[in-house]
Amino acid sequence: MKILYDVQHPAKGDKNIVELGMVDKVETDGNKVTVTLAFSRHRDPLAEYLIGSTKAVLIRHIPGVEAEVKTVIKDPGKKPAGLDLGTEELTNVKHIIGVASGKGGVGKSTVAVNLAVALARLGYKVGLADADVYGPSVPKMTGTENEMPEAYKEGEKEVIMPLEKYGVKWMSIGYFAKPEQALIWRGPMACNALKQMILQVRWGELDFLLIDMPPGTGDIHISLVHDIPLSGAVIVSTPQAVALADVEKGVNMFRNSSVNKPILGLIENMAWFTPAELPENRYYIFGKDGGKAMAEKYGIPLLGQIPLVQGIREAGDDGEPVALSSRPDGEAFVLLAEKVAGAAALL
Ligand SMILES: Nc1ncnc2c1ncn2[C@@H]1O[C@H](COP(=O)(O)OP(=O)(O)OP(=O)(O)O)[C@@H](O)[C@H]1O
Ligand SMILES: [Mg+2]
Repeated sequence: MKILYDVQHPAKGDKNIVELGMVDKVETDGNKVTVTLAFSRHRDPLAEYLIGSTKAVLIRHIPGVEAEVKTVIKDPGKKPAGLDLGTEELTNVKHIIGVASGKGGVGKSTVAVNLAVALARLGYKVGLADADVYGPSVPKMTGTENEMPEAYKEGEKEVIMPLEKYGVKWMSIGYFAKPEQALIWRGPMACNALKQMILQVRWGELDFLLIDMPPGTGDIHISLVHDIPLSGAVIVSTPQAVALADVEKGVNMFRNSSVNKPILGLIENMAWFTPAELPENRYYIFGKDGGKAMAEKYGIPLLGQIPLVQGIREAGDDGEPVALSSRPDGEAFVLLAEKVAGAAALL
């Protein structure tokens, strides 16, 4: 599928066949790959061309491949706008918890990934779904960016197996789409992709499924809270006043009467800066205890304060979450995990 993003439709701007929903099936058998392209009419004048360029792209990307391209006629009018996937794969998941914030870049993904690893260290069965279809960061933060989850058909249903590393099951759109492709998706397509990353995944038995939410309070969020049986959410913020103003929007989104999901608590990230060479020192660059004040204002618990430490950023970039280590910044996430598990138990 990832490879097929390179097959562009000459008559539809820069759109590719995956985006246009023309890929009906991809089957593999040894080194043979059979792609079935769906056309809306017989004798499409571009069919020959698209068959040729699909083969060319497969041959260019997969050395030694035997490429076959078939076609099928499908009425595009019947294609549903929203996927109806059901929630069977979540049957054995105890708590589904969104990791959210109103604002971007406050460390949701860092917190989500480390919280997942820390919960696993405490002995819980944990999965994490990266719901940030426009900017997935889980593959990089877990060092799994070159892996490809397995998918197979079970009757009419398609099932995706999560990746497993550091004792956690991971799923992200980043494993399937190139980042520059996901960015141009329009609302409905992004929502469908997101639903697949959660509802079509064989999570199995889990104590916690964390959902790393994209920043903001837009389409994706509404789709997410309506289609996925979230148990609740944790909100991440920095102590800074401008970040807190957006947190307010995040809190209100979950408290809105049509959504109405409990907020387990607030996590204050980048609460202070501690340089590696002066581990006792704390510098409150984004202000002191802003998160604490916000938590009080909204009557939600402050679940933890995570310092701004170079090691946390480096560990994220290296794909080895700091929560794996017994350094103080790693232990901060273990403490947080305990608090989150406690709050979830009270739901
Ligand atoms: N406590 C921390 N200490 C040091 N660096 C951090 C900390 N938290 C986050 N970072 C770094 O800040 C950057 C942004 O973090 P992250 O990607 O987790 O934010 P986000 O809220 O998920 O962003 P987005 O809104 O884009 O999804 C990353 O480079 C990350 O490594
Ligand atoms: Mg993120």
